[in-house]
Amino acid sequence: MKQNINLKEFNTFGIEVFAKEFLALSSKEESIEFFKNNPLENENFLILGGGSNLLLTEDFDGLVIHNNLKGIEICEEDDNSVTLKVGAGENWHNFVLHSIELGYSGIENLSLIPGNVGASPMQNIGAYGVEVKDVITKVEAISISTGDVFYFSNKECEFDYRSSIFKTSHKNQYFISSVEFKLSKQPNFNVSYGAIKTQLEEHGIDENSLTTKAISDAVIAIRKSKLPDPSEIGNSGSFFKNPVISEVQFEQLKKKFKDMPAYQLPQGGYKLAAGWLIEKTGWKGYTEGNYGVHKKQALVLVNYGGASGLEIYDLSERILLSVQQKFGVTLEREVNII
Ligand code: FAD
Ligand code: EPU
Repeated sequence: MKQNINLKEFNTFGIEVFAKEFLALSSKEESIEFFKNNPLENENFLILGGGSNLLLTEDFDGLVIHNNLKGIEICEEDDNSVTLKVGAGENWHNFVLHSIELGYSGIENLSLIPGNVGASPMQNIGAYGVEVKDVITKVEAISISTGDVFYFSNKECEFDYRSSIFKTSHKNQYFISSVEFKLSKQPNFNVSYGAIKTQLEEHGIDENSLTTKAISDAVIAIRKSKLPDPSEIGNSGSFFKNPVISEVQFEQLKKKFKDMPAYQLPQGGYKLAAGWLIEKTGWKGYTEGNYGVHKKQALVLVNYGGASGLEIYDLSERILLSVQQKFGVTLEREVNII
């Protein structure tokens, strides 16, 4: 246990705040023992992975637990598929690259998403037509109040768009220790996302030369072209979720804003592009001191260096208000505000 630790290197927004106490847990056994001896249900604590979906708004007057559980092992395998159990502290993108190298397919569209494997079920990470719920079979999690180990099936995780029980009904109750993924040995390419098709063409890839690696390279190229690299500009990816509205509201808005992008959902309603709404309210590229809205992607708030979490939160509040006033749509933050 360390005291008074600067968290700047532990969050991709690069916000400088201090944690009163900091502990890194590196094995399942050590974690079970810790939670058995130190039940945390009434304590102020924060479980930290790669810190890429957080906005730290003040010094943390409690215990930060850094999940550092490593390891990748095969649980089951046949000619068509393989099930891998991956430690929560493994870096997500390294796991994607490792899978591609071994000839497994299913997560190549999720290349270059920052953060660790343990947080991937939290908000059901997704990009370019794939969500991690499509490949998760089981989540292993340790109760923070008893140290008991629980297993959650895919169904029990109640995955939804940028959501799971770990972010809703079971929030702050479990320390995810590992995640199981079922990947395919027979590539099942998903190139439904228009931008991927265009990028593959630019890379000279056609149906015959398509591989999981080619899709991963295309996704990486698209992401690098619009998302800021956290090692250069502090950010946490999309700050808000894409909002879902009713058909009635969609029809009204579409009359007024004819070029508004929208996706009809199978369960009803329409998903709007928050980036477009924010751009149309004039915030894209907005800069105030050393923070603002990314020039190439209005959904991403950025810290150019030295901004406080409260300044960025306040900016997000103003953006929310403008979008509400212009479109009557309420944005919801994707990033966890601490
Ligand atoms: P952290 O930020 O450390 O934690 C996030 C939340 O999960 C916190 O509430 C934390 O307490 C909790 N948590 C973390 N680990 C555990 C654990 N082991 N047990 C219990 N609780 C835990 N997300 C997408 O879905 N799609 C994208 O395309 C995408 N692109 C991004 C691009 C950039 C440039 C950035 C900076 C972020 C992007 N994100 C994206 C968001 C982020 O990368 C993901 O949400 C990622 O899964 C967060 O992982 P992390 O380890 O950094 O989590
Ligand atoms: N758009 C604008 N202006 C902008 C940004 C976007 O008009 O400044 C429009 C685009 O033209 C497009 C639409 O919005 O019509 C969607 O844009 P994009 O394809 O860039 O995706 P997004 O909706 O902004 C979502 C996810 C990303 C994910 C990408 C790719 C959310 C909240 N964000 O972004 O996830 O990588 O799709 O699938 O769902 C994250 O969650 O942190 C994240 C980066």
